[in-house]
Amino acid sequence: MDTVRIFDTTLRDGEQSPGFSMNTEQKLRLARQIEQLGVDIIEAGFPIASRGDLEAVRAVAGAVRGSRVAALARAKQADVDAALEALAPAAQPRLHVFLATSDLHLHHKLRITRAEALDAIRTMVHLGRRRCPEVEFSAEDASRSDIEFLCEACAAAVEAGATILNLPDTVGYAVPEEYAQMFRRVREHIGDAPGITLSAHCHNDLGMAVANSLAAIEAGARQVECTINGIGERAGNASLEEIAVALAVRQQKYGVRTGLRLDQIYASSRLLSTIVNVPVPPNKAVVGANAFAHEAGIHQDGILKNPLTYEIISPEVVGIPARKLVLGKHSGRNAVRFRLKELGYDVTEIELNECYSTMIALADQARQISDRELLSTVLNVRRRHAAVAGIAQQAPAAT
Ligand code: KIV
Ligand code: ZN
Repeated sequence: MDTVRIFDTTLRDGEQSPGFSMNTEQKLRLARQIEQLGVDIIEAGFPIASRGDLEAVRAVAGAVRGSRVAALARAKQADVDAALEALAPAAQPRLHVFLATSDLHLHHKLRITRAEALDAIRTMVHLGRRRCPEVEFSAEDASRSDIEFLCEACAAAVEAGATILNLPDTVGYAVPEEYAQMFRRVREHIGDAPGITLSAHCHNDLGMAVANSLAAIEAGARQVECTINGIGERAGNASLEEIAVALAVRQQKYGVRTGLRLDQIYASSRLLSTIVNVPVPPNKAVVGANAFAHEAGIHQDGILKNPLTYEIISPEVVGIPARKLVLGKHSGRNAVRFRLKELGYDVTEIELNECYSTMIALADQARQISDRELLSTVLNVRRRHAAVAGIAQQAPAAT
């Protein structure tokens, strides 16, 4: 089975979005967790951006041994120098050089011709390759580039020594079929050259980053670039945990595996959220608080009988300690009995009925029933029963 390499850019594309910046110590802490997660490549930053970023990349490069460490550079000598300086302590460094290939970016942003772009790609990839064992080239805005020029740019990068070709959907414009078609055409052009890996890098402006990444894998990409919790520019990057779990759950369809330790997903998501102080939305796939929570009675009943009825993956697989049955007004008797049993109360049918009706009445006012409320309900029910039994025992003596 083929392996898809996971390139995590939480510390670069993720970190450069508003509200997510991290200092060196925070980046280091997160990098160690991402290494634990088993990602193949950690993109640690963009060293030319600031001295602080350069130092952070250098610190990550010195600390991480289990993953490759990448640093980003525009196709400019000063960027390449800064990236290589930062990567100096890395055991497995990767230089990541990028240049836009769409006419929109070439004419309006960079103000250079296609020929000048090809020249910059050749020169900077070649320079990088002489000083670094591995060079990745990214064709920024690939999905809006003229496909034949994109092929030419990729061929130039390969000739100059790049072994990874990344085709970003920089502005999240592509839809899965188009994005896959771009990979098929580039593959055809460079002829499946041995040792060359195609890579997907998707943004989520239309909510299709994960779908596009999966489509690229089907079309031959063997590296995906993504971030924890899907953080990143604007609407974010493709979410690492969603891609990882999709590839695992639908392995028969995709026929590929990753080297990720899925049980480290939740810890990675929590750590990022704590470091940047940004909560994970409750409905976020895989890692949101509601991702494995069940409130509707019919669902709770199904889950208790067989989790597969309403869960396609069990929470333990991604490192979430236990599934959460939320007790609220939609809950059923079975869920109440189950939670009471977990709390140490094996209730009779009559006790259960009373607990259940009290709980439903409470749930109409409060949104969720806490364990404390459930416990006080069952204790009240038992006290009441004991009192009634006591009166019944005393009654004959009184007569
Ligand atoms: O979205 C993008 O095009 C990028 C590149 C710099 C890889 O982040
Ligand atoms: Zn990006």
